[in-house]
Amino acid sequence: MKKELSKTAGAIGIFDSGYGGLTILNQIKQTMPEYDYIYLGDNARTPYGTRSFEIVYEFTLQAVNKLFEMGCHLVILACNTASAKALRSIQINDLPKIDPNRRVLGVIRPTVECIGSVTHSKHVGVLATSGTIISGSYPLEIHKLYPDIVVSGEACPMWVPLVENKEYDSPGADYFVKQHIDNLLKKDPEIDTIILGCTHYPLLLSKISQYLPKGISVVSQGEYVAKSLKDYLRRHPEIDKLCTRNGECKFLTTESEIKFSESASTFLNQAISVQKVIIE
Ligand code: DGL
Repeated sequence: MKKELSKTAGAIGIFDSGYGGLTILNQIKQTMPEYDYIYLGDNARTPYGTRSFEIVYEFTLQAVNKLFEMGCHLVILACNTASAKALRSIQINDLPKIDPNRRVLGVIRPTVECIGSVTHSKHVGVLATSGTIISGSYPLEIHKLYPDIVVSGEACPMWVPLVENKEYDSPGADYFVKQHIDNLLKKDPEIDTIILGCTHYPLLLSKISQYLPKGISVVSQGEYVAKSLKDYLRRHPEIDKLCTRNGECKFLTTESEIKFSESASTFLNQAISVQKVIIE
C-alpha cells in the first residue's frame, strides 16, 4: 500500500543506479550548498545501462516514489540511463497520478543545452551506456536545439563496472577507455566535442584525457546540471519553497551500508553516514 505523501517542504532527491550520481551531487552541492539533499543509489540492482526499457522504468519509478515518501518534492534523475528510458513516462503518465505538484527532472537536457557553444566543427560524440545510446535520446535532444550538429554515439558497457569496482585508475581500465575513444573517433573523425553521457564517467576523466587527441573538448555534466537546477528553482518559486535549506545531505542505498560508505568516500572525499532502504 502506498504511503501518504507529506505536504511540507523536504530535501531535493538525487537518484542514480549506483555511485555515478555522486558526481552530480557534488556539483549541485557546490553550487547550492544551502539546500538539503537525499541521495539514493540503487546499488543492489546496478548497472541499469544494459537493462531493458521496462525494467529501467520500473526501478526508476520505485526510486522516485521512495524519495517522495522521504519528503522530497523535487527529484533529479542523476543517471542518463534513467533519464533516457524513464523520465518522460514518469513525467507524463505517473506524476499526474502520484501528485501533480511534484517534479522529476533529468540530466540529458541540461547537458545538451551547452553543446552549441562548445563545438566549432558541429560534430559531437557521445560516450554513454548501451541503454542511453540505444534510446537515441542524445541525438534527439541535440537536434531539437541544434538541427545541424552531427551526433555519433559509442556505448561503453565496461566503463560503469570499472568505476563501480574502483578499477578506474588501474592499468586494466586503459584498454577499455582507449578502445571506445578510438571507436568513436573512427565513426566521425571531425568530432571536436565529446559528451560524457554517463554520470559514472567523470571518474575515468584522467584516463579519457590521456587517450583523446588534442583539441577535443570534453563535456562533463555535473556543472551544467547544477547550473540548470539553480536556474530552474529561480524560475519556479512554487517548487523552490518546497525545498528545505539546512545544508544537510543524507545517503540511502539498496545495498549494504558499509559497502556504500566505503565506495562513496572515493567520489566524495569524505566520510558519510548511510541508511539501507528497500525499494519495491
Ligand atoms: N550512471 C548511470 C548513467 O548516467 C548509468 C550506470 C548504470 O549503467 O547503471 O547512465
